[in-house]
Amino acid sequence: MSICIRRARIEDRAAIERFIRIAYQELAPFKGPDRWCWQFVENPFRSDGNDLVPVWIALNGDEIVGQIAVQATDAQVAGKIYSAGWIVDVMILPAYRGRGLGHLLHQAVVNDSPLLLTLTMAPATRHMAERGGAITLGPTRQFSRWTRLRADDVQRYLVQRTAHRRRLRKAVRWACEDFAFHRLFALLANRWLSFRDRGVRRTLPIVSMVEVKSFGPEIDNLWQRTAASYPAICPRNSRFLNWRFVNCPQLQYHVFLARRDGAVVGYSVLRRAISEELRHGIIVDLFADRLDLAVFSDMIVHAVEYFGHEVSSVECATSLPELESLLRKNGFFNSRTLAPTVVTSDELLRNKIINLRNDWFFSKADHDWDQIHLG
Ligand SMILES: CC(C)(COP(=O)(O)OP(=O)(O)OC[C@H]1O[C@@H](n2cnc3c(N)ncnc32)[C@H](O)[C@@H]1OP(=O)(O)O)[C@@H](O)C(=O)NCCC(=O)NCCS
Repeated sequence: MSICIRRARIEDRAAIERFIRIAYQELAPFKGPDRWCWQFVENPFRSDGNDLVPVWIALNGDEIVGQIAVQATDAQVAGKIYSAGWIVDVMILPAYRGRGLGHLLHQAVVNDSPLLLTLTMAPATRHMAERGGAITLGPTRQFSRWTRLRADDVQRYLVQRTAHRRRLRKAVRWACEDFAFHRLFALLANRWLSFRDRGVRRTLPIVSMVEVKSFGPEIDNLWQRTAASYPAICPRNSRFLNWRFVNCPQLQYHVFLARRDGAVVGYSVLRRAISEELRHGIIVDLFADRLDLAVFSDMIVHAVEYFGHEVSSVECATSLPELESLLRKNGFFNSRTLAPTVVTSDELLRNKIINLRNDWFFSKADHDWDQIHLG
């Protein structure tokens, strides 16, 4: 087998589309040409002026058999902006797995990229990053808050979670089909949730939340005022936010500005899952001055009320311990913990990152975490 590994060019697009259709199957429509262009060509942080795209491909003759892509971003570390990228869409066709292609592709990406970040990843990708000398950062936690469960929510969730475990999946099917486990679970859970909600007393909000269509100068102003409270973060300015949420194809985001005494002191980005996903409401991003916890608290309450009982669960993720406490106070529980990684060969930057490993700000707006997850 003679495999060539190289950086893709825009003219490889048709071959990459073919590869995506074969490799991702039922998920492929959600990784179609419009999303690909948005993510890798129209991305405002892409540094190449030529026709190179940040996708590394493995070719057997003319056929693409594997890829690793990089979603470009800026990262601000200790007050300095660095060009960086998120490792995304790591995929080798089944017939070519287990022969070291993953490592070779990852090494090719590392050789060309000054700073690589990864937040959500499969164990194999972590393994490749670790071999590339990755620093593991402090935890980013996903939280869930159940609202009201339908029996089919429970069943779909169990089927999704056991998709790759044959025996467990069989047990789930047996429990649901023969014993209506999902119905019983939903019934008992909803009794408990009604009881939980009866005890909740809301204080008067200090901010007013207004929905807007895009991010304007007031957001850049907020970012400039608050950036210093975050030692390590992918900047939340209008350049990033408009590309990430307003121009993103397929996914529809709702953007809210938090105003206190007329001034913008925070924003939230919310999304209702589409019908192919589990019935979630997603708090994709919450941002304010790190010390302004009252604003974060009001934005969490607003999001929970916004989704109401139309969703089975509200999902949110954060790397900030103070935000974790607010989420727990509002009925959220920790449903998943991630250990992000960074790879860089810049020794000075590496030392800064090691010193700040527990001070990064991450949410579901980072990486390509908030994409369609079939449920
Ligand atoms: C993950 C994937 C890209 C690895 O590609 P590959 O060409 O088989 O990788 P390599 O042969 O270079 O092996 C890479 C390392 O990952 C390990 N690995 C592979 N699959 C693994 C798995 N499912 N769990 C844990 N480790 C795994 C290998 O053992 C190897 O480690 P080693 O060098 O210490 O032996 C490939 O299996 C794949 O496309 N999987 C489906 C898509 C996927 O899961 N992508 C990751 C999304 S973040």
